[in-house]
Amino acid sequence: MTGPRLTPLVEALSPTVPFVGPETIERRLGQVLDPRLGANESLFGMSPHVLAAIGQAAMTSGLYADPEGWELRQALARRHGVGLDHIVLGGGIDELLGLFVRAYGAPGAPVVMSTGGYPTFTYHVHGYGCRLVTAPYRDFANDLAALAEAARREDAAIVYLSNPDNPTGSWVSTEAQMALLAALPPQTLLLLDEAYADFAPAGSIPQEGIADPRLVRLRTFSKAQGLAGLRVGYAYGDPATIRPLDRLRNHFGMSRVSLAAALASIEDQAHVDAIVAEVARGRREYEALAAEFGLKALPSATNFVAIDMGDAERARRILTKLIEQEAVFIRMPGTPPLDRCIRVTIGRPVDRQAFAAAFTRVMKANS
Ligand SMILES: Cc1ncc(COP(=O)(O)O)c(C=O)c1O
Repeated sequence: MTGPRLTPLVEALSPTVPFVGPETIERRLGQVLDPRLGANESLFGMSPHVLAAIGQAAMTSGLYADPEGWELRQALARRHGVGLDHIVLGGGIDELLGLFVRAYGAPGAPVVMSTGGYPTFTYHVHGYGCRLVTAPYRDFANDLAALAEAARREDAAIVYLSNPDNPTGSWVSTEAQMALLAALPPQTLLLLDEAYADFAPAGSIPQEGIADPRLVRLRTFSKAQGLAGLRVGYAYGDPATIRPLDRLRNHFGMSRVSLAAALASIEDQAHVDAIVAEVARGRREYEALAAEFGLKALPSATNFVAIDMGDAERARRILTKLIEQEAVFIRMPGTPPLDRCIRVTIGRPVDRQAFAAAFTRVMKANS
């Protein structure tokens, strides 16, 4: 028996996954990982308002959800001051990234991003057979001039920028982002991943209403809103660029529970504000903790901090001890030179204390 033939594209893909899940590590170790500080999820819990909406929606989950996500898109359109046609919903930014690559990156087309940038985007670039072109980070931040240069040189189909950035936590000014957009070829799509926008300082998130069909902005309910497990994200931009995704997307892919939770969380901004403030405190704590050991925490505009361990071997060693001896889940970037860092999510005070205690034990035993 020979069995079905894979497409040549899939046949040639390596079997890597963008991220190994903490559950996979737990099964390997036979141990629960706690605190769970590796995936930049929210450990702060949901607002009671959101939980109530989830309960209500659960009762009608025998029915498919509205395939147009009309109510949520209405609320998002109001929030961003755009029309309903400017918005497409998806199962998190991760799903939308795949749809945009599929829609705008023909097989073999050049797609530009920073070297070692968000791995799920790279995964889609390979998965749809595009050609990955990278420009190195400069001082652990996206180098927008280098991205623009690569995009012009290659006449790129897509440029991907995460701002604020994962895995570095860095951010760039709106002026720099607008200069990048202005410098791109007329048919290049700029995918601006704003997953961490709620945590970003003033002057780093572009104003609304930029009328340029080359710009698409992506947002998620997974970070500050704390709904990662419900998988809700959206993209917004010019309808001419956004609406073609209706030809590809999974129209019944979102659940009633997810849509209701996202809608309720928009109406509970106070809960989000409290989390953003707590995350800012956590960032300062991690900076101080790193300094105790003569290490530098990279400046962060996100809900995580990358700590520069000096070299990749040390970063890997400390990360392994934290996971295997201390059962603390964290991650590190896999690509040099970012692999000098370990990356730690900011959780509740109790999670941060647990991390600080474990980190201190591991550092003392391994210095
Ligand atoms: C830059 C970036 N984009 C997207 C995501 C995933 O977002 P979602 O949960 O909406 O798929 C993450 C999560 O870590 C991220 O860091």
